[in-house]
Amino acid sequence: MLRLCFCCVFFFIFLPNNVKLLDNGLARTPPMGWMSWGYYMCGDHCEELPEKCLDEKLILSVVDAFYNEGYQEAGFEYIIIDDCWSERKRDENGRLVADKKRFPRGMKFIADYIHARGLKFGMYTNIATVTCMQYPGSFGHFRTDAKTFADWGVDYLKVDGCFVGEDVLNNAYIKLGSQLNDTGRPMVYSCSWPYYIQYIHSKVPDFEAISQHCNMWRNYHDVQLYWPALKMIFKHFEDEYEELSRHHGPGKWNDPDMLIFGTDTLTESQSRVQIAVYVMLSAPLLLSCDMTKITAYEKKLLQNLDLMAVGQDPLGVMARPHKLQESVTLWVKRHLPMKGNKFHSYSFAIVNVDSQPHLIYFFPKIYGTDSKDGYTVMDIFSRDFIKNVTFHEPIEVTVPPDDVIMYTFFPL
Ligand SMILES: *[C@@H]1O[C@H](CO)[C@@H](O)[C@H](O)[C@H]1NC(C)=O
Ligand SMILES: *[C@@H]1O[C@H](CO)[C@@H](O)[C@H](O)[C@H]1NC(C)=O
Repeated sequence: MLRLCFCCVFFFIFLPNNVKLLDNGLARTPPMGWMSWGYYMCGDHCEELPEKCLDEKLILSVVDAFYNEGYQEAGFEYIIIDDCWSERKRDENGRLVADKKRFPRGMKFIADYIHARGLKFGMYTNIATVTCMQYPGSFGHFRTDAKTFADWGVDYLKVDGCFVGEDVLNNAYIKLGSQLNDTGRPMVYSCSWPYYIQYIHSKVPDFEAISQHCNMWRNYHDVQLYWPALKMIFKHFEDEYEELSRHHGPGKWNDPDMLIFGTDTLTESQSRVQIAVYVMLSAPLLLSCDMTKITAYEKKLLQNLDLMAVGQDPLGVMARPHKLQESVTLWVKRHLPMKGNKFHSYSFAIVNVDSQPHLIYFFPKIYGTDSKDGYTVMDIFSRDFIKNVTFHEPIEVTVPPDDVIMYTFFPL
């Protein structure tokens, strides 16, 4: 009897986390890297717009920046080519071919260059017969394309969801995923599936299925290069926290889309807010910019290892939002290290998206910091241990306009 009960408990506690996810061993923490779309978009008009050209030179420049300028050490790993990379026609064997002008040495060359530096290579396709920008898509070619990507040494595949109905979305992502698995090459599988279900077809995404077949998935509209777009993303994750957090964790991540660093869009405080919210969400961190345009301040944020450690925490918890005032949200994230097997560390990010400063007062204890031995508190942006607190002390702080205060409490 006792043994039976023990088994039941074991079953219920461990089954949901250990079985129902894409079992390719990848993305155990949220992927970090760079992707071409946000800033370069299609990038195929290289003569008219050379500064927005998606070509081999651009990709290698990102690899070199990751390798030489400290990004790799901070965790940035995947370099991902988005739409518009191929020739307009498949070859005589039905295989995709890289654009001969922009990628003269082909994709295997790029993959080798990336792998030689210990980094990882990502590519893109669409689930329909054409991509969102009308290049050849993978529908009808899942097996061939999966094999092509595997042969090239691809480590990550973003699969878009333009131009197909709800039924195709709900079936084709599963089929393509199984073809990727059949290649024997583990590839992070990034799906745009729920975005299209929710915002193009106005239906409710089946996150249970999505999280079993994809390593990460886009939830919401493409990020745009302006601050209000970020506020809408934060609001989406706040409003849908209950549903999204249920399907989020190691190997399966909700993806709020790219960081807009290096695009001259954000003030310093706004860039703090974007990185803080993404790290608190355990979101993938994908840059999209000319790496030489990242400001010294943005680089400091991206290479703040205390901040990155919260984002890459192995528990992969999505922070819970608490609305403290109309425009002030307190995000609370439980993470490692633990004291014994009882007391977690906690991060608190107090985000003010108003144009006025707000005075905030709250008791961290209510949100879980209940160790009687107290906590040592780090200001994550200055990286200073600012004080030790007992478990019943309140926090009182003024958050400037469009800004965030972020503290991590480590149990003493
Ligand atoms: C394919 O799926 C099986 C079963 O889920 C898993 O054990 C294996 O690691 C997967 N292989 C790849 C390359 O993703
Ligand atoms: C906090 O407590 C630790 C452990 O007792 C101690 O080493 C540290 O100096 C204290 N920090 C502050 C800011 O008081």
